[in-house]
Formats: sequence, C-alpha cells, structure tokens
Amino acid sequence: MNINQDRRDLLRNSALLGVAVIAPSLAIADQKTSKDSNEPEATATEDLMREHGVIRRALLIYAETVPKLRQNASSIDPAALRRTAQLFRTFGEDYHEKMLEEQHIFPLVRKQGAILQHYADVLTAQHARGREITDYILAVTHGGKIGSQHAEPLTKVFEGFVRMYENHAAREDTIVFPAWKTNFTDKQLDEISDQFEDIEHKMFGKDGFEDAEKKISNIEGLLGLQDLSQFTPPSPPKP
Ligand SMILES: [Fe+2]
Ligand SMILES: [Fe+2]
Repeated sequence: MNINQDRRDLLRNSALLGVAVIAPSLAIADQKTSKDSNEPEATATEDLMREHGVIRRALLIYAETVPKLRQNASSIDPAALRRTAQLFRTFGEDYHEKMLEEQHIFPLVRKQGAILQHYADVLTAQHARGREITDYILAVTHGGKIGSQHAEPLTKVFEGFVRMYENHAAREDTIVFPAWKTNFTDKQLDEISDQFEDIEHKMFGKDGFEDAEKKISNIEGLLGLQDLSQFTPPSPPKP
C-alpha cells in the first residue's frame, strides 16, 4: 500500500525468520523510509489519535443535530443518527475502547502513579456510560421518525455525550497516551502499531480506520455536513 505497509510486511516476514534478521531489516526499512518518502511513520499513538478524529466527527454530527431536534424533531432522518451510533459502537466502543485502550493502554497507565490510575478509572467508567448512551440512541432511532416524546430527552443525551467525550478524548490525547508511550522505545511502538493493525484486521477484515472514515463521510453527506467551509464563522464585529 505504501512505505508503512511495506515496513509492516517486512517486520512480519522478519519475525518469521528470527531475531537475527530483524535488526538489519529494520535498519534497511529505516533507510528506505527516510530516503524515499517524506511521509512520517505512523506510530501507535498516532493511530489512536486519528481514531479519535472519527469519534469526534460522530460527536459533531450529534452536536449539529441538537438545535434541529429542538426546532423540529420530525424533520430529522433517524437512519443517519442510527448509522452514526452503529459506527460509534463498532469502531469507537468495541474496537478503540475495548480492544485497544482497555486491553493495552489503561493496564500500563494504571501502574504509573495515583493521578494516572485515577484517569484510567474515570475513563473506563465513561466508556461504560457511553455504551449505555449508545444503546439508548440506537433504541430511539429505530423507527421511521423520532417520536416527540424522545425529542427533548435525546437532545439532553446528545449534549451530555458530546461534553463527556470532548473532555475524554482530549485528556487521552494530551495526558494518557503520552504517558503510556514513555513505557516503550520507538521500535517497540512500531511493533505495537503492527499488533493494533492485526487486531483491526481481525475485527473488521480490512482497514478499519479507512472504512470508518468512509462511513462517517457518507453520513455527513446525508446530513449536508460534508462541506467544511460551512463551519467557517463570519468575521467578528469591529471592537
Ligand atoms: Fe477512551
Ligand atoms: Fe480514546
């Protein structure tokens, strides 16, 4: 696919041949990366952070839906919201949170002092609350229209969910992932990135990130949110 993929293949093949081959192979791969491409190597933390990008785009869809729900709930296409919640479930909750953060990131971070232990506990509790909320969103977006009895509760649920995950992902990006990263050398992080990719392929049978990015783009298209320039605000008034 690209240099990164070549390198991953090389690492896997090297692993089959034994440790003695790995070091020179890595050296060759490093030379190739720096010589032939300006594209930087994607690390495990970059993978996690770009997954947050997909999660944030789902949050933006929910946030954009809030004023429309307040104005006229029956004008909203529940199928688009349901698809967003389904993507949040499979890619955000089942893969990113359960398979990566809860299996690989939090267990190590918990051993890095009381503050990080507290973060891991709160973040895990927020994953559980997020799942409850996604269950609710899936339930109320099941029919052809959002029932008027669900409009106001769903609005509040969206606001709470977005507020929680904006804070949640921002702390992971700036505190938890950088702390976790200090446990490893660059080479080990590369190998962990390969492990994450293997998990992704096992779960999705293909590149989970690319597929998730396509899905969220399609949902944005359905809701008229695909054009980024619509979010540029007008110039501020003269002070
Ligand atoms: Fe998380
Ligand atoms: Fe996360």
